[in-house]
Amino acid sequence: GEGVEVVVVSNRQPYRHSWGDNGIEVDRPTGGLTAGLDTVVRRIEGSWIAWGDGDADAEAVDEHDRVSVPPDAEDGYPLRRVWLTEDQVDGYYYGFSNRVLWPICHGALTRVHSESEYWEAYEAVNERFADAVGERVGRGDVVWLQDYHFGLLPQMLRSRVPEDVLVTHFWHIPWPGWDTFRACPHGSEVLRGLLGNDLFVVHTERYRQNFLDCVEAAIPDAVVDRAAGRVFHEDGVTTVEAYPLGVDTERILELATDGDADERWRRIRSRYGIGEGVRVGVGVDRLDYTKGIPQRIDAVERLLERHPECRGTFTLVQIGSESRSRIPAYRELQTAVVEGVNRVNARFRTDDWRPIVYTTDRLSDRELYTLYRNADVGVVSPIRDGMNLVAQEYVAAQADGNGVLVLSRQAGAHDLIGEDAVSITPQDTDEFAGALHAALTMPEERRRERMGALVETCRSFDTEVWIEDVLGSVARLREEGHGG
Ligand code: G6P
Repeated sequence: GEGVEVVVVSNRQPYRHSWGDNGIEVDRPTGGLTAGLDTVVRRIEGSWIAWGDGDADAEAVDEHDRVSVPPDAEDGYPLRRVWLTEDQVDGYYYGFSNRVLWPICHGALTRVHSESEYWEAYEAVNERFADAVGERVGRGDVVWLQDYHFGLLPQMLRSRVPEDVLVTHFWHIPWPGWDTFRACPHGSEVLRGLLGNDLFVVHTERYRQNFLDCVEAAIPDAVVDRAAGRVFHEDGVTTVEAYPLGVDTERILELATDGDADERWRRIRSRYGIGEGVRVGVGVDRLDYTKGIPQRIDAVERLLERHPECRGTFTLVQIGSESRSRIPAYRELQTAVVEGVNRVNARFRTDDWRPIVYTTDRLSDRELYTLYRNADVGVVSPIRDGMNLVAQEYVAAQADGNGVLVLSRQAGAHDLIGEDAVSITPQDTDEFAGALHAALTMPEERRRERMGALVETCRSFDTEVWIEDVLGSVARLREEGHGG
């Protein structure tokens, strides 16, 4: 309706501005999430609030506390930053968000580390964001929160925004079963916080059931209506839905095939020293312990042990992006990846061939999608992953339709597209190596058949569909009189 705005709130900002030699410079953080949401916010002509991480001077760039992004774009949108102190970042981001909620939700209980400062900072930063949102929204607006950094925000908003503002939240990581979530420090406070939402959305039906189980177990005064997917509690009603996040399939295909795509692929091969006739597997991940990268390296090693004919004829290109390095578990993972790659390469490499090409260099979108398009095998092997957009991006880039996706059963994506992928449990090295071998030896007809089905499925829940699903639910709730 007229004047109604959708205000997106995420921890990570889509663009980082800083002062450089040529005035204001812009770069984009890694991670599929903000890139995907950027498309969304432009399409719905919304605005965005996020943590202004990065350059110490950046605040000065942000003169009016809102910049239009992307720079000079006709379809830009206002981006407002919330500035945090070093201590707040330590406790809220590196602490409660990424050393408590992240490992809990990924079922990595041995990685959970909690300090009371973490929780205090998490509360304080959620308050700061609640204030920022309160200043921004007006009557009838929609607040669209993203992810686990804002577990308390929905409830906090209730006293800060007009009653007819509808609050919805998308949880991008898994929601674990109660037996796991009960290990979460302050878990019931987080659940109560989230029940401040009119609409709470997760990727899959499993996560939805898990969330309802947790509410039932931890919040005695809440009444859960399973059939309707609704929770009734003292402050109102929260509807819980499952809408899988997809990728912008059209744009990916366009960039993968665009202009001098063949020349681009030749350059990529030569940069990585991949010779004629060598088949390529591709893995692209943030360097996170949930992604199963060491397991992937082990599987490549096992493949080369068991199938000597793959020596000299198969290379895994593994692209890693540094992430959350102040947390010890992330630094350990980075070291383990480098050591694993070196071990396997030292064991099998020849003068003109390496089993694994590992780089932390950032590729442009065009290069990345070209790599996906031409790789014979897409290797996605998380130990646990809310969705995994790389799996979908690999499929979306398959202009020639003959690649094979090897996909972990533990990725949310597997619930949606697992049937036409080659499924693995990443810790089962023999099975994983067997899957790589099966992918490399699959007859072309079979590959095309499966990839065709994968492409179709990914198109059926691309970004556009996701927006329609979420905003469609918002509109229905409005009609029913929720959130005013
Ligand atoms: C995951 C989370 C996102 C996060 C991204 C990158 O996808 O669900 O919320 O933005 O990782 O991680 P970072 O900590 O760098 O924002």
